[in-house]
Amino acid sequence: MSEFISNSAEETEKIAYDFGEKLMAGDIILYKGDLGAGKTTFTKGLAKALGVDDTVTSPTFALVNEYYGKMPLFHFDLYRIVCFDDLYAIGFLDYLDRGGVIAAEWSENIPALAEEMCDGKRTVYSVCIEKTGDESRKILIDEVQL
Ligand SMILES: Nc1ncnc2c1ncn2[C@@H]1O[C@H](COP(=O)(O)OP(=O)(O)O)[C@@H](O)[C@H]1O
Ligand SMILES: [Mg+2]
Repeated sequence: MSEFISNSAEETEKIAYDFGEKLMAGDIILYKGDLGAGKTTFTKGLAKALGVDDTVTSPTFALVNEYYGKMPLFHFDLYRIVCFDDLYAIGFLDYLDRGGVIAAEWSENIPALAEEMCDGKRTVYSVCIEKTGDESRKILIDEVQL
C-alpha cells in the first residue's frame, strides 16, 4: 500500500505519471472516490505515462474512452453500472485482452469486481482518492491480492 498527499491537480497528475510508468498491458486500475475527487485528473497523468497525446476527458457519457499511445488506455465510467450483467452488456470483458491498461471510475458500484479481475494474467490496483480540502487529496494505491 502506498499513500500520497497531493496539494494540486498537477501533483495528482505527477503521482499518476510515476505510477503509470510501471503499468503493463492488461493491468486494471479500479478507482474509488467521490465526484470531484480527482479520478479523471489521475487518469490524465496515467495517459501521459502511457504515451497518449490526446486530451483525457471524463467518460461519463461514452462509458468508455479509448486512447492509443505507446500502450492503449481504456478509461471507463461505471457510474450507472450496478451489476456484472451491466458490465458484460457494455463489453467490459472484451477490453481485458486488448493489450492496454484499463482504468475504471466508480468501481465501488461492483464490490466484487476487484477480486473477479484477479486472474493471474494482470495486476489489479485499487486507487482510492479522498478529498481532504479544496486542493488537497489523500491518494491510496494498493495492489489487490486474492
Ligand atoms: N490535489 C488535487 N488532485 C486532483 N484534482 C484536484 C486537486 N485539487 C483540485 N483539483 C480539482 O478537482 C477536480 C477533480 O475533477 P476530476 O478529476 O474530474 O474528478 P473525478 O473524476 O473524481 O470526478 C478538477 O477540477 C481538479 O482541477
Ligand atoms: Mg471523472
